[in-house]
Amino acid sequence: MEKSLGRKKIAVFISGRGSNLKSLLKYSKTKKSLFKIVLVISNKSNAKGLEYASKSKIKNFFIKYSNKKNFEKQSLKLLKKYKVDLICLAGFMKIVSKNFIKRFSKPIINIHPSLLPKYKGLDTHYRAIKNGDKFSGATVHIVNEKMDSGKIILQEKIKILKSDTEKSLEKKVLKIEHRIYSKAIIKLLTTY
Ligand code: GAR
Repeated sequence: MEKSLGRKKIAVFISGRGSNLKSLLKYSKTKKSLFKIVLVISNKSNAKGLEYASKSKIKNFFIKYSNKKNFEKQSLKLLKKYKVDLICLAGFMKIVSKNFIKRFSKPIINIHPSLLPKYKGLDTHYRAIKNGDKFSGATVHIVNEKMDSGKIILQEKIKILKSDTEKSLEKKVLKIEHRIYSKAIIKLLTTY
């Protein structure tokens, strides 16, 4: 990716709580940040992350997910309008189409609460505990048209303790997510 002066413009796609959005925003406000968040898009009108974006004075939009084609068409208009360089999916629970990836033509990345390629999809913590895994973690990866696939940018793992429950593991992994998402963006912006 082109290394230019000025901060890269990021759009964050969400579907809910928005804690990753929050941590990205916090980082983006530091002096050293190489990026700024210029746009937040949600497919859910009641996503908590939208309220947070409004409070933080970031342009934010709810786009009804009546169908993928329409959602992506409207998103592309906004991405163009706000001159977005990179899309970060942060708890965005939809799969983007090949056509959308091609039309956007700049990187799209995603964060996922497992050590990919293990446990794509939902219930990652439940599955890791059920299978008796020794480790779990979080992964930031390039998005392709397959769910939770694509080249891994950064991954960090954590030990699963005997005492861990789905809830406690989720909490620990979320902490990792908040730490590695901005790191992964910096890595992407400076090395690719
Ligand atoms: C996060 O744990 C994120 O990794 C996960 O949804 C949660 C959203 O939390 N994403 C996926 O599972 C995508 N496959 P947040 O809304 O508080 O950032």
